[in-house]
Amino acid sequence: MSALESAQPLNSDEFPLPKATFAEKVISVEHYTDRLFKFRITRPASFRFRSGEFVMIGLPSEGKPLFRAYSIASPSWDEEIEFFSIKVPGGPLTEHLQKIQPGDTIWMRQKSTGTLVMDALTPAKNLYMISTGTGIAPFASVMRDPEAYENYDKVIVTHTTRDVAELKYGYDTVALTKEDLLVGEEATEKLIHFATTTREESDQMGRITNLIEDGTLAKSIGLPDLNPETDRVMICGSMAMINDLKVILEARGFEEGANSKPADFVIERAFVD
Ligand code: A2P
Repeated sequence: MSALESAQPLNSDEFPLPKATFAEKVISVEHYTDRLFKFRITRPASFRFRSGEFVMIGLPSEGKPLFRAYSIASPSWDEEIEFFSIKVPGGPLTEHLQKIQPGDTIWMRQKSTGTLVMDALTPAKNLYMISTGTGIAPFASVMRDPEAYENYDKVIVTHTTRDVAELKYGYDTVALTKEDLLVGEEATEKLIHFATTTREESDQMGRITNLIEDGTLAKSIGLPDLNPETDRVMICGSMAMINDLKVILEARGFEEGANSKPADFVIERAFVD
């Protein structure tokens, strides 16, 4: 029996399932701060995606069903689907989504897509995944994909947030990845996590753009400066960060890639309500 058959909406008579949509169950919810939470849902047996992609999710609700794009934070082999979400005060979806409990129904479109996939990059030595805020979500997926360690010598994930508490999801996910039965051994050897805050005092402070430009990132992780000869970059986070980093990378000779034309770096804004 597929998860689709096993997980019909609780109130399916009231809110009929839209076309091309799965109805899944919430398995767990973890709140990190008053702005951030993670949740895991059942995975439909027929749902296929590439690590790093996003999908539209929504809640059965009154009126027109509301869907928003969410990066899938779990890897493509996982039996469950994980999401990492911001809570936007008054946000049409997250206002309701932040109240979900295990057993509730979540709607998920059947088709995923996105550019933060290894297929959109040409082969190289190191993979950098640069994120701010919830932009770490697609990288939580890619860092748990064995292909990342087959394709690259080093996999570097950077995460910048305003406050220390907002870094916890990244720390937890990296720790889980290093303990994982499938990728743990390789991740322990190859995965580098570089976390910074910009507003609250922490061990490493500063915007990632500045830390790349002034050489702090390279020095801290013990690798040469970012270079298109050896490095590939995925970027996800605030629009301002993406735009600034794109300028920095292009000045160093990096070319933007896409699924249809793989190249040196790919970008996607972190989705918000
Ligand atoms: P800052 O505190 O200096 O604005 P947000 O929570 O607003 O999405 O921001 C997440 C992180 O992204 C914050 O640490 C923020 O730093 C950082 N950020 C915002 N704009 C830029 C930018 N243009 N370049 C680099 N980092 C940025």
